[in-house]
Parts: sequence; C-alpha cells; structure tokens
Amino acid sequence: MREIGIIMNGVSGRMGYRQHLVRSILAIRDAGGVELPDGSKVTVRPLLVGRSEAKLAEIAAEHGIADYTTDLDAALADPQWEIYADFLVTKARATALRKAIAAGKAIYTEKPTAESVEEALELARLAQEAGVKTGVVHDKLYLPGLQKLKRLIDSGFFGRVLSVRGEFGYWVFEGDWQPAQRPSWNYRAEDGGGIIVDMFPHWNYVLENLFGEVKSVYSQASIHIADRWDEKGERYDATAEDAAYGIFELEGDIVAQINSSWTTRVNRDELVEFHVDGTHGSAVVGLFGAKIQPRNATPKPVWNPDLEDTHDYDEDWQQVPTNDVFLNGFRQQWEEYLTSYVLGTDYPFDLLAGARGVQLAEAGLESSRTGAKVVLPELKLA
Ligand SMILES: NC(=O)c1ccc[n+]([C@@H]2O[C@H](COP(=O)([O-])OP(=O)(O)OC[C@H]3O[C@@H](n4cnc5c(N)ncnc54)[C@H](O)[C@@H]3O)[C@@H](O)[C@H]2O)c1
Repeated sequence: MREIGIIMNGVSGRMGYRQHLVRSILAIRDAGGVELPDGSKVTVRPLLVGRSEAKLAEIAAEHGIADYTTDLDAALADPQWEIYADFLVTKARATALRKAIAAGKAIYTEKPTAESVEEALELARLAQEAGVKTGVVHDKLYLPGLQKLKRLIDSGFFGRVLSVRGEFGYWVFEGDWQPAQRPSWNYRAEDGGGIIVDMFPHWNYVLENLFGEVKSVYSQASIHIADRWDEKGERYDATAEDAAYGIFELEGDIVAQINSSWTTRVNRDELVEFHVDGTHGSAVVGLFGAKIQPRNATPKPVWNPDLEDTHDYDEDWQQVPTNDVFLNGFRQQWEEYLTSYVLGTDYPFDLLAGARGVQLAEAGLESSRTGAKVVLPELKLA
C-alpha cells in the first residue's frame, strides 16, 4: 500500500492539532487509509513540525507518531515527505509556503493563504510554475447544513435565488474576568488578526461554490471592544476589527449580506446561519440543520401595528431530514485532496481559489477604510 509522507507544520495550534492532525490525518491513518475509486488504498504518515520540541514529543507520544522535528528545512529537503501542510498563524504562512513550493512539495494549507492578495497570487503562480498540486481548506462547504443547502440548490428547490443573509458569530470573552476562547493574535492587526481576514475567505468560497462569484463588496468593520487581555492575563489594545458587516453582490444579481461578529450574543439555533430566499422557496441552514418553506406553504402576513400578530412563523418551516452520514468536514476534504493528489486529477480548491478568498478580505478592509463599494477584478495566474 502506498504511504504518503505529510509534513504537518503548526500541529500544536488549535486547528493544526484538533482538526487536521487528530480528526483528519490520524483518523485516516487509523482507518487504514483513503479508499481510491478502484478500491485500492493509500495511507498517510505524518511528520510533526513546530518550534517546541517538547510539545511535539508530547503529541507524538500521545498519538503513536514516530516522526517529529523542529527543523523545517531538513524536512523539506527529505524526499520521503511529499506533501507540506500548513496550519501556522496567518502571518507565518507565506514564508513557509514559499519554501515548501521551492522544495517541490505538494501543498495543503489553512486559509487565508497570505496576508495580501499580491502575495497570495504570487504563491499560486509559484506553485503553478513548480508544477505542484495545491489545496486550501474549504471546510465550511462540508458542514452538514451547507451540504443540505447544496442539495436544495441542485434540486431546483429555490427557483431563482434572490438573496442570502448570513449571521455568524458569538461572544468572545475579553480575557479579564473570563479567559478568551480565541487566541489573542486574532485581535491584533499587526499579528494578522481581524474577523475580516479570518472569515471573508470562508464567505468567498461558500458564496462562489453555492451561489456565484462575488463581484463586489461593501463592508463596515468595527473594533467594538478595544481593551482585551491575552493568554498571560496582560491587557492589550485590540487593533483589529471584532465585527464586520458586509454586503456582497454575486453573479446572477444575487445579493448576500453577512454579519460576522465576535461581539454578539447568540439568539439563533447555531453559530452560523444562512437564510436563502428564492422565487420558489426559502431555506435557513446552519452547521447541521436546515429548514425550508416552499412557496406553496408561504403565509400571507399583512402589516398592522395596531394588532398583535399571533401567527407562529416558526411553525411555517419544515426540517430537512439528515439522509446522509457526514464525515468531519476537514477529514472529508483531506480525503478528496489526497485522492486527487494520487490520481493527478484537477483540484478546484487550490491556491488560486485561496487567493480569491484573500482578495475578498483585502477588498472588505478597503471598503471599510474608504466607505466605498469595492469591485473585485477577476484574478488570473498568467
Ligand atoms: N478553517 C477554519 O475554520 C479555521 C478556524 C480558525 C483558524 N483558522 C486558520 O488556521 C490558522 C491557525 O489558527 P489557530 O486558531 O489554530 O491558531 P493558534 O494560535 O492556535 O496556532 C498557531 C500555530 O502556529 C504556530 N506559530 C505561531 N507563531 C509562529 C511563528 N512566528 N512561526 C512559526 N509558527 C508559529 C504556533 O506554535 C501554533 O502551532 C490561521 O491561519 C487561521 O486563520 C482556520
């Protein structure tokens, strides 16, 4: 059985450890590999890379992993490792990806792929010139709720889609009287933080893969909470926005509005929800759930401020059943990427797709700075 050596850089981090190492690569290893269309299997061998040898040794011992190192250059020079996977803080990513591409490794990386669209595009070009396969995390597309939404779209349920309203967020504690549940760099612009850089790359691939390419963005970014406390309990100035209110024009005259916030208290069924209105029906989907209202079952409200409305609008929605077994989304995407890598097939979620995500984030920040709507030019490699 073919074994694919994967350099995993940043496995001590939140995403690197939980989603990529434990839930994806080790789950694949422990399941005996990924099954290819012809019934054969390929398996994976991780090499843990990081800055702290002690941390790596601890993770390796806990999970029965033979290989770890603090020497990234040596790992990149060793041909037994075919894929370089990156889960570092955003700021450290581009430098590491550049090195890995130069070493001829295939790339699999977290988003955002870089801090500027120029750099993201340069990485995509370098990878194309080097002829290496690239993959960028598109995990939200694999959420059960969004897979149900995809099925609704593909079945023609909506008729013509008119608009999408997204609500994402929850309260992230300031860190003084309760520890914050996200890393402090998320709130410092100088360290690659900010909810736009974090979330707009997700919104870009969600919108372009489900509804249509994003043509323009208007956004308002806010630092609602300026005083925060870091992992050591020390106060710092938040210099990156903790909320962003965006309007996105999509292909086909679809309007998407998405609020992203770490400063809101949840009053919805899930931490993210999308409400989609179409001529023939509407849907509200979250991480797991999805409910629909076809036009044949749409009530006919009449606005009357003098009369209390006793209609129960929640009752007008019907749950979409869970007819599939959904794998962890990160693992599902890893399996597809590995299959595509081995078979040499085209892989759509590549560094160019990643660059479009960075482009949307950059345009969102520009819009907020200037107060103007920003039109997105098509990104091309050549
Ligand atoms: N796909 C998603 O849903 C999702 C969710 C959260 C974060 N992310 C992305 O994942 C990446 C990591 O985020 P996280 O929340 O796991 O962060 P984290 O702070 O928990 O982990 C960051 C990792 O980078 C390492 N690191 C930090 N500074 C470094 C440096 N200067 N040089 C080399 N290594 C360094 C740390 O040791 C750690 O292993 C970010 O790019 C973030 O945007 C993606």
